[in-house]
Amino acid sequence: MQLTIRPYHPADLSVLYRICLQTAHSGGDATHLFTDPDLIGHMYTAPYVFFEPELCFVLTGAEMPLGYILGTKNTAAFSDWCETEWFPVLRKRYPIPETDDGSFQNRILQLIHRGHPVNNDLKAYPAHLHIDLLPAAQGQGMGRKLIEVFINRLRELQVSAVHLQVGKGNPGAIKFYERLGFHEIVNYEKSIAFGMLL
Ligand SMILES: CC(C)(COP(=O)(O)OP(=O)(O)OC[C@H]1O[C@@H](n2cnc3c(N)ncnc32)[C@H](O)[C@@H]1OP(=O)(O)O)[C@@H](O)C(=O)NCCC(=O)NCCS
Repeated sequence: MQLTIRPYHPADLSVLYRICLQTAHSGGDATHLFTDPDLIGHMYTAPYVFFEPELCFVLTGAEMPLGYILGTKNTAAFSDWCETEWFPVLRKRYPIPETDDGSFQNRILQLIHRGHPVNNDLKAYPAHLHIDLLPAAQGQGMGRKLIEVFINRLRELQVSAVHLQVGKGNPGAIKFYERLGFHEIVNYEKSIAFGMLL
């Protein structure tokens, strides 16, 4: 199947929510871990495409989205926008659960109430990104191409550096970022923050 990269279109949104869910379990399908399939996309997909649609690129095969890269050029501005525009409605719709059952869904509910705060460790890397491809599109060099497209756009926008965070339960993604030349910024207990100077 021929795979193509193109800019995001608003009609992609519902499919991007699904791709986010289907790659959220350390790179694998998290559908079985959620009673509300939209929760994770509310956190990691939609705010980015509403805040900076020009920094979202979609990978398609047979005209259907099979993956995406998205992010922000300015994590601090994104964080502020999320607080004023994005999360207030969601926080009313999804109250914090009274008991913590340790589930992934519960964790995402908590994160919706925490928001996307700026991490001081990563302040020297103002942009950040998320990339997710469905299995049918993986291992064909398209992840590398999506990163190149995203980074070229950041360079056009004169952004100095980009970061991302990956869970230690996703060793394939860790190897991917290392292979592409990202360097480790901070090694946390459960995740690694990688960066690249542009
Ligand atoms: C991780 C991901 C983005 C990589 O994209 P991809 O299209 O599969 O990777 P590519 O084919 O472009 O690979 C690029 C390079 O990384 C290496 N690489 C990719 N995945 C790898 C893996 N699992 N193990 C080792 N190396 C890997 C490739 O060998 C390749 O090296 P080369 O170009 O020097 O030959 C993609 O597999 C994915 O979306 N996975 C599920 C969701 C996910 O984990 N997202 C990241 C969350 S932080």
